[in-house]
Amino acid sequence: MNEYTICVMPGDGIGPEIMVQGLKALKVIEERNDVTFNLREGAFGATAWFETGKSFPDETVQLCDQADAILKGTIGVSHEASKQIPVDEQPERGGLLPMRKRYDTFANFRPVYLSPGLRHFSPLKPEIIGDGIDIMIIRELVGGIYFGSKEVGTNEQGLRYAREVLEYDERLIKRTVVSAFDAAMKRSRKLHNIHKSNVLKSSILWTDIIEETAPDYPGVEVRHMLVDAAATALCLNPGQFDVMVMENMFGDILSDQAGGILGSLGLMPSACLGPEKAYYEPSHGSAPDIAGKNIANPYSMIGSVAMMLDMSFNMREEAKNLWRAMESVFAAGYSTPDLSRPGTDIVLVSTEEFGDRVVAALEQG
Ligand code: NAD
Ligand code: IPM
Ligand code: MN
Repeated sequence: MNEYTICVMPGDGIGPEIMVQGLKALKVIEERNDVTFNLREGAFGATAWFETGKSFPDETVQLCDQADAILKGTIGVSHEASKQIPVDEQPERGGLLPMRKRYDTFANFRPVYLSPGLRHFSPLKPEIIGDGIDIMIIRELVGGIYFGSKEVGTNEQGLRYAREVLEYDERLIKRTVVSAFDAAMKRSRKLHNIHKSNVLKSSILWTDIIEETAPDYPGVEVRHMLVDAAATALCLNPGQFDVMVMENMFGDILSDQAGGILGSLGLMPSACLGPEKAYYEPSHGSAPDIAGKNIANPYSMIGSVAMMLDMSFNMREEAKNLWRAMESVFAAGYSTPDLSRPGTDIVLVSTEEFGDRVVAALEQG
């Protein structure tokens, strides 16, 4: 019997609604395997700040420290509501980034996947989509401009200024690059290095390290692409990409764009892996515009559960079953409203019904 402790942090906005669906699926898997998942719920995000004065309260830190894995919903509140919280204590700066740093979760895997049967969800034309989309974006998650020194003030000319530093050392780059080459070996052995070496020295260092690492992986074909060109290429020819690796901020932006070519951010789960601890979260935010309406797409959360089963608990078969169950719900014509397009024949379901249908498919499969 395997026993795992999971710190569950539903968070803000749609986080709690989609978390419920992820946990329903996890329960099915627990019941039919020789495994126990001890779930420990922790307050996190703006909800936690309003309750306790901290976005990442000490009790939650302890639960995370003790957990085998962390399952996180979404955090963040509307621009207006954010103003009630001091800038450095807001859930992004005061909760999420400190958590990433604490567990050193440097390798952020963001799968961008649309099977041939689900091509109609994409806003791209069928001839561009081809056989569907299957990309793995690997985003460095604990370095770069997000974590460099920051300064705001007034300069000698009396002008307000802000200064933030984009810094990487070779160790930080190397470990992410190695994760990307390893991932490429397990997939189709094609790796795109996404960079901005024509301007940024950090990108020159990043690209040097890719080239120094490449001889250790002779079977992997490496291509270099400037990040701005990559943004266009994702729209015009996504089929050329398999594994894409990039620094923190490039990865933030391009992974949301990748959600766009799938048809919704609700199709973007993720895994954030560190040397000792991993956490799993949707790539998107708390979607304040649809929170509380029971219409959010829970795929990103349920997919994050599947990634946790695979990457933290070595339950690969059940992870596959979970992906398959979600796919079958879409294939049967059901979807949450984010994926509905004029002219397509989709039966709209709520967040909860989508989750129920995934559970039913999982129980049958
Ligand atoms: P967002 O990702 O929350 O939403 C962007 C758009 O995508 C919205 O129209 C939203 O309704 C839609 N969307 C997102 N997820 C969806 C889902 N599962 N189903 C259906 N539609 C979905 O981005 P935003 O509105 O710019 O940010 C809102 C808050 O979320 C901000 O406070 C931001 O900092 C935070 N945020 C948190 C995370 C995280 O927890 N990792 C990630 C991104 C943004
Ligand atoms: C993401 C989010 C976060 C980021 C924010 C909420 C700090 O946008 O996970 O993509 O920028 O990394
Ligand atoms: Mn983002």
